Amino acid sequence: MNLRIERLRWWHLSAVAAMEIEIFGPEAWSEAVLWTELSAGHDYRAVFDGERIAGYAGTAYSGDEAWINNIAVDAAYRRRGIARALMDDLIARARAGGAKALFLEVAVDNAPAQRLYDDYGFVGLGVRKNYYQHTGTDAAVMRRDL
Ligand SMILES: CC(C)(COP(=O)(O)OP(=O)(O)OC[C@H]1O[C@@H](n2cnc3c(N)ncnc32)[C@H](O)[C@@H]1OP(=O)(O)O)[C@@H](O)C(=O)NCCC(=O)NCCS
Repeated sequence: MNLRIERLRWWHLSAVAAMEIEIFGPEAWSEAVLWTELSAGHDYRAVFDGERIAGYAGTAYSGDEAWINNIAVDAAYRRRGIARALMDDLIARARAGGAKALFLEVAVDNAPAQRLYDDYGFVGLGVRKNYYQHTGTDAAVMRRDL
């Protein structure tokens, strides 16, 4: 595997929208929503294996806070450190951009992602009830200092 991290561009969005459906099912973000994310200037990065997208993450900035809006890895590429590579990259970029804290939301039943965030030192701030529209699952809001 020859992996590299690069900025995600508009011409990647149809592939990302297809991955969203595979990975998130009814909670998937559409291509239109992904366009809005890029248009808003959010920092989307992807791990590429050749031309194939193995995973991606998007960070939004607001003052000295950064929010991870999305992070996902293609099932065929999991448990190979791709989410770690995306997290390390977005943390470095958020720090370089002057952010002082990083936030995210994660479904309370998403054990793999919660383990990842625990490893990165995120701590729970509270729970948003029925946060996910289609499943009604609660989301934990988490934070870590940068
Ligand atoms: C969560 C997700 C992004 C992890 O991606 P990944 O590339 O497989 O993760 P990595 O290989 O970098 O693993 C990093 C750490 O995360 C944790 N982790 C990842 N997958 C895990 C699993 N299936 N079970 C338990 N812990 C897991 C582990 O702590 C792991 O470290 P280790 O491999 O040294 O034990 C991936 O499973 C995914 O895309 N899931 C669906 C989308 C999603 O839930 N996104 C998060 C929304 S908040």
